[in-house]
Amino acid sequence: MASSDARHSCVVGLQWGDEGKGKIVDVLTAEADVVVRYQGGANAGHTVLVGEDEYVLHLIPSGILQEGKICVIGNGVVLNPKALIDEIDQLSASGLDRMDCVKISERAHIVLPYHQALDAARESATSGGKIGTTLRGIGPCYGDKAARVGIRMADFIDPERFKALLERNVEQKNRELASFGEAESLDAQAIFDEYSAYATKLAPCVCDITELLHAEDAKGSEILFEGAQGAFLDIDLGTYPFVTSSSTTFLGLGPGSGFSPRKVDHVYGITKAYATRVGEGPFPTELDGAKGDELRDLGGEFGATTGRPRRCGWLDIPALRWSIQICDVDALVITKLDVLDGLDEIQVATSYGDTTSSGAASYPALADAPIEPVYQTFKGWKAPTTSCRTFDELPVEAQEYLQFIADASGCPIATVSVGKERSQVVRLDPWLAPKGS
Ligand code: GDP
Ligand code: IMO
Ligand code: MG
Repeated sequence: MASSDARHSCVVGLQWGDEGKGKIVDVLTAEADVVVRYQGGANAGHTVLVGEDEYVLHLIPSGILQEGKICVIGNGVVLNPKALIDEIDQLSASGLDRMDCVKISERAHIVLPYHQALDAARESATSGGKIGTTLRGIGPCYGDKAARVGIRMADFIDPERFKALLERNVEQKNRELASFGEAESLDAQAIFDEYSAYATKLAPCVCDITELLHAEDAKGSEILFEGAQGAFLDIDLGTYPFVTSSSTTFLGLGPGSGFSPRKVDHVYGITKAYATRVGEGPFPTELDGAKGDELRDLGGEFGATTGRPRRCGWLDIPALRWSIQICDVDALVITKLDVLDGLDEIQVATSYGDTTSSGAASYPALADAPIEPVYQTFKGWKAPTTSCRTFDELPVEAQEYLQFIADASGCPIATVSVGKERSQVVRLDPWLAPKGS
């Protein structure tokens, strides 16, 4: 295929993460040649079920489960070398020897033990401001990147550079840790001894990924970009300060990979048929008590990275319209429809009771802004959807629910996911368009 015809796509989460991006990336990878992570780190947790085998991925793109694909870790990712090697080893133990497929940007920053120690110290500081992070050192590592004291892969695989930068940083980080009352200080030599072995192991994977992506584009390869987290966790646009520290939207693709977002043909926005959030921060449609517990049990809503119970609630259309707008979404993928199979009634927030008329979506900048969702109630379909593979096979009430989501969000639906397993998808061809579009 000529490069001008190349079909590049991007998958992004439209909520607070855990929308099922990993499963959808796995499905779409069948049609791609290269899969790219462009932000975040081992805070991500993607669970993918292939037959009976369940895989949990944190750093390696979820495309790794399909054979023969190049899996790229972009410069926008903060990479914990130990976590990556563990993940590669776990895949090998399951019979997937895929290290040769992994390419790591020489510009990606590395997460070191002092980042995790600082993450924990800040989260437990008595001065408040707890975010409920994953404690994977993400905020401190991106902080170092912005402060221009970070250590990148290119430094890491050069022992002398790594040692010099590490010694400088550990001294400064120990002072910072002491200011949080941490009695124990970190030992640069011990970190060097452990981590230089990881550097040796990862060195063959390190390259200029921007050059690689442009060369693949010129060859006519299909590239799939994989966003981690979700739009509402974006450092600039999300529910600040209850966000992660990277650009989680489609807009992060450019700086996180050195590849132009203008070359991407399709942006797929992933949303659950309801909503969840882990950690602190606003969640307008959250269900407290038994109703929230019921959704959590039905959806198995426990974090893949930290095991924390996820907060659960109804689908929020004003929020969805906002993230569709920011991510310039071409089509939605609705996941976990099957989780609603047994419910008598399903609710959806259709507005926040405001009367804005510009047609453009907006979301409050302040995390404590009062939001009062107005709900519409839908009759449940009370029938299993897990074996459905076409729109017509879905119960009529489920079809109506999906049509409502397309209409209210103003965005077509390309795919519906009806179970954990790779094959449990309903592909809509043509896409289910909003009525009147
Ligand atoms: P990600 O971080 O966006 O990749 O999502 P996670 O993997 O953290 O969380 C999604 C969870 O839902 C995982 O346990 C998936 O196996 C599961 N899942 C994904 N799609 C579906 C679906 O359509 N139905 C059900 N029941 N589970 C799903
Ligand atoms: P995936 O890719 C859900 C949340 C944390 C916390 C906030 C900041 O699996 O969708 P951090 O450790 O990044 O500094 O935490 O962001 N968070 C996620 N929530 N899914 C994720 O990733 C997340 N990654 C970070 O719970 O509220
Ligand atoms: Mg997840």
